[in-house]
Amino acid sequence: MDQINKEDFPIFENHPKLVYLDSAATSQRPKQVIKSITDFYEKENANIHRGVYPLSEQATERYNEARRKVGEFINAQEKEVIFTRNTTESLNLLCHRIKSLVKEGKDEVLVSEMEHHSNLVPWQQFAKKHNFKLKLIPITDNYELDYDRAKELITDKTAIISVTHVSNVFGTINDIKTLINLAKEKQALTIIDAAQSISHMKINVKELDCDFLAFSSHKMFGPTGLGILYGKEELLNKLPPFLFGGGMINKVTYEESTFADIPEKFEAGTQNISGAIALGEAIDYINNMGFDKIQEHTSELVAYTIDKLQDIDNLTLYSPPPEKNSGIVSFNLENIHPHDVASILAESDIAIRAGHHCCMPLMKKLSLLGTCRASLSIFNSKKDIDKLVEAINKVKEKFK
Ligand code: ALA
Repeated sequence: MDQINKEDFPIFENHPKLVYLDSAATSQRPKQVIKSITDFYEKENANIHRGVYPLSEQATERYNEARRKVGEFINAQEKEVIFTRNTTESLNLLCHRIKSLVKEGKDEVLVSEMEHHSNLVPWQQFAKKHNFKLKLIPITDNYELDYDRAKELITDKTAIISVTHVSNVFGTINDIKTLINLAKEKQALTIIDAAQSISHMKINVKELDCDFLAFSSHKMFGPTGLGILYGKEELLNKLPPFLFGGGMINKVTYEESTFADIPEKFEAGTQNISGAIALGEAIDYINNMGFDKIQEHTSELVAYTIDKLQDIDNLTLYSPPPEKNSGIVSFNLENIHPHDVASILAESDIAIRAGHHCCMPLMKKLSLLGTCRASLSIFNSKKDIDKLVEAINKVKEKFK
């Protein structure tokens, strides 16, 4: 199978030679999504929830429709979907407010060694502030989580488990269902960082039975500046608001305020209205393609990538095999800094990410300065990987 619908992505009309292998950093956007943003500003622009004139009512309806689409996409109720700025803000919202949900006697937070800074630094701050212990599920030599250790680390003291669904460095698909089940046995709260999985596989929050799930629009073909926090209704109802101001209140006097119900309780100020509508388009785009097709394409391509890269001498791979990999391949060339590799690949119009990937402690653990990371999407093809291999060989020639 070759790439799917590359012609849907205008970036490639403007950069015909571009080999974009950095979708884990941010997706490219299909024209349907881009058009929905200009359409909104040209034809429908007004603030939501505030006006009684038709344009405002229509904008409110379009925003609510976007929330409904997100809810259906992950099998959540509409009111369980909170719009934030990004995954990081969704996780910060929880770190600031979740203490009120923690059961008496519990004082440990569990994350994994493969967390992005966005799911590590906030919990470090939480642990310091509340005098909790921060524990880490280790990784194995195969770039997976060590589930035997996880089982030992989840105890009656565990208040919160917050883990990534897919590693942004290795591409590893974590068995979050097993972790959620273990957490439930100990009545710990469960949070899933789905930033890297949301555009690659079907997520059903009811089946997973996680308490919270965070992801970003910009990694699923939607615009930047918009994130989602899913939370179970009864938990969101108990969680105090994070940001205060207009749009999240019920009644305000000079002395006191009461707050709106969910989801508005967590959405203070004017929201990213056009962003939410465009995310709705992105969801339609993914649904029209279907996860079967997306997964078939990515699995075949990641297998091809791993196969080709492991044939290159003096190249080390840091990723699990295709059946456990969502479409990210990390590698290094012996004695060549990943930034040098990425810069030389850029001369051949190949875009990868190089460095610590916002996972500095993980790099330290692996005794690496960083890695080169190729991340795949539906518009990539085997030709892209052939160009990558050719360009890697050029890098090796330069450093001979
Ligand atoms: N979290 C994104 C990445 O890993 C930015 O590249």
